[in-house]
Amino acid sequence: MVPVSSFLKSVLSLPNHPAFSCGIISSFRITSCRSTFKQSPVRQQLFNMASTSNMNIAYPWAKSPIIAAAPMIKLAGPSLVAAVTKVGGIGFLAGGFDVTDLEKNIQETVDLISAEGRSIEHEDDVVPFGVGFINWGGDLATILRAFEKFVPAAVWFFAPCQLSDLKTWTERIREKTGGKTKVWIQIGSVSEAVCVAKESRPDVLVIQGADAGGHGLRKSAGIISLLPEIRDALESAGMSDVPLIAAGGIVDGRGLAAAQVLGASGVAMGTRFLAAKESTIAKGYQDEILRSNDGGVNTVRSTVYDRVRGILNWPEKYDGRGLINQSFWDAESGMSDDENRKLYKEAIAAGDDGWGPQGRLTTYAGTGVGLITKVESAETIIKSVLQDAAEVIKQTAEGSQL
Ligand SMILES: Cc1cc2nc3c(=O)[nH]c(=O)nc-3n(C[C@H](O)[C@H](O)[C@H](O)COP(=O)(O)O)c2cc1C
Repeated sequence: MVPVSSFLKSVLSLPNHPAFSCGIISSFRITSCRSTFKQSPVRQQLFNMASTSNMNIAYPWAKSPIIAAAPMIKLAGPSLVAAVTKVGGIGFLAGGFDVTDLEKNIQETVDLISAEGRSIEHEDDVVPFGVGFINWGGDLATILRAFEKFVPAAVWFFAPCQLSDLKTWTERIREKTGGKTKVWIQIGSVSEAVCVAKESRPDVLVIQGADAGGHGLRKSAGIISLLPEIRDALESAGMSDVPLIAAGGIVDGRGLAAAQVLGASGVAMGTRFLAAKESTIAKGYQDEILRSNDGGVNTVRSTVYDRVRGILNWPEKYDGRGLINQSFWDAESGMSDDENRKLYKEAIAAGDDGWGPQGRLTTYAGTGVGLITKVESAETIIKSVLQDAAEVIKQTAEGSQL
């Protein structure tokens, strides 16, 4: 049995714990068994269940546990989002950092959902899906204008220039929609989670682990340790009621079951939806998602996949995980960015042949890529992930000997 004091020390890494550096905890007292219970996994599960039921109220069409389709620039468009909503997931349109087409894309998604003639019970003026923004580039004024016509059920924020920007964004969105739009914020470390929870009071925190495809923190941990550490840190800071959604390397029912056990109310998947019938993805890209395996070996975190496309304004602390290709190897062997970019443009002209290990086109994907072997509808993906997770949890519980 670990003494309470050393247990707390290991969880909080005093005095450098983020809850201290953000000024959330100024003093604390160790009170024997209360502290042990405070950190107990059983208690965490109770918080998890409470958070999950709040999510059911906020998104009445969504099934529990939550499956969210991450906003992926150019890839998560109206068809994917509408398909995800229809089957009880929470789809996020990718607003990214160029929000020019935002209103048009929301309208198209609404039309697709309505065309099915399905009635989606929600407040009349709230559309049953979310929109994701990359804060360092998104134009808040344009976004607020679009929200005059449509009120999305949720927004998803990611990658601000500085964390404090999220507070302004959160407040302005809440003001605009009278709190009808819930605020999801994707973060990737314990310190970010605690600071963001304290300053911005999001409705949901999306915890992005190191295995995630696309952009993420250069310095990051896998979801298996990151999520429970964040859960503990939030609890210590008195903010245990924020629902957590796990992201990064989760592609199937086993991943969802694991996330639930870690204390998440659900998952956000990006890479898995690259193989959805409804994603707006080039065939060459999607073929690579199906072909690739062994994600720890065949993907890499790098900034080269942005540099070759001339995207140079991501804040310093981010890079992106993608399948390894020739752009990466050439950069490693010293090729200049100018030369690499020139070759990238030539690869675009090659169309679907521009992808692949000898190709050059950016192929963002997470380490779970090897578990994805076929293209399926969003409906099949969501139903199978939910069903398999429930089965895994049931079997695991039956197999446990207490
Ligand atoms: C191709 C691709 C594009 C992405 N684009 C975005 C984006 O535009 N905005 C964002 O917040 N996250 C983006 N992400 C990251 C996701 O939000 C999420 O963290 C990630 O997909 C989770 O890991 P997974 O890909 O292993 O499921 C992207 C991920 C991928 C794979």
